[in-house]
Amino acid sequence: MLLRSVPFYEEMQRMIAEMAADFAVDGTSIYDLGCSTGNTLLNLAPRISQKVKFVGLDNSEEMLKRCRHKLAEQRFTREHELICADLNQGVPVENASVVLMVLTLQFIRPLYRDRVMAQILAGLNDNGCLILVEKVLGEDSLFNRLFIKYYYDFKKRNGYSEMEIAQKREALENVLIPYKLMENRELLLRSGFRYCDVFFKWYNFCGLIAVK
Ligand SMILES: C[S@@+](CC[C@H](N)C(=O)[O-])C[C@H]1O[C@@H](n2cnc3c(N)ncnc32)[C@H](O)[C@@H]1O
Repeated sequence: MLLRSVPFYEEMQRMIAEMAADFAVDGTSIYDLGCSTGNTLLNLAPRISQKVKFVGLDNSEEMLKRCRHKLAEQRFTREHELICADLNQGVPVENASVVLMVLTLQFIRPLYRDRVMAQILAGLNDNGCLILVEKVLGEDSLFNRLFIKYYYDFKKRNGYSEMEIAQKREALENVLIPYKLMENRELLLRSGFRYCDVFFKWYNFCGLIAVK
């Protein structure tokens, strides 16, 4: 589904694995916060040393069930753990060299986003990185309107009907709360990350990498 609804999803996944491979350190863990059905964990596996533990976290038991099933199907035998937890309540990250949040921070209540970042930073080892992919707002309302239009055109090209697009928009209202790219960048820097850069941008989607 994400292939049809997220632009350049496959290329972003490839880039995430490429960057994660450069930051992952033996004897530490990689966390995928909001791991859903495990796409990112599976995609990372061939590129990362067996001495790095994989931890997937999601607040949906149903997603984790599907994730477990997919990992078993693909004979995912490396050391890993799947945790059911709500990031609004706290982020159980420790001894991490890489933390991933792929289209997940946007679902965290804005009130808690600074705390989530502070807890990720605390659980990351020095020189560890956070890779963040988010849907974002345009920097002003003109671009925002245009970017949303281009995004819906992208979904239509991928076979979604007007009705499906409208239903999804309604379902996500007040649930998916995007920040602007610059607001996400400021959040990372204010939380104490030393460096932050944009590795992906397509209209209202962006990818950021930040280093502790
Ligand atoms: C768009 S999906 C993530 C996709 C996934 N990272 C990938 O690339 O395949 C967002 C995920 O975040 C999870 N999620 C939303 N709010 C959450 C929260 N408060 N705590 C933990 N997980 C949450 C959802 O259950 C969902 O699986």
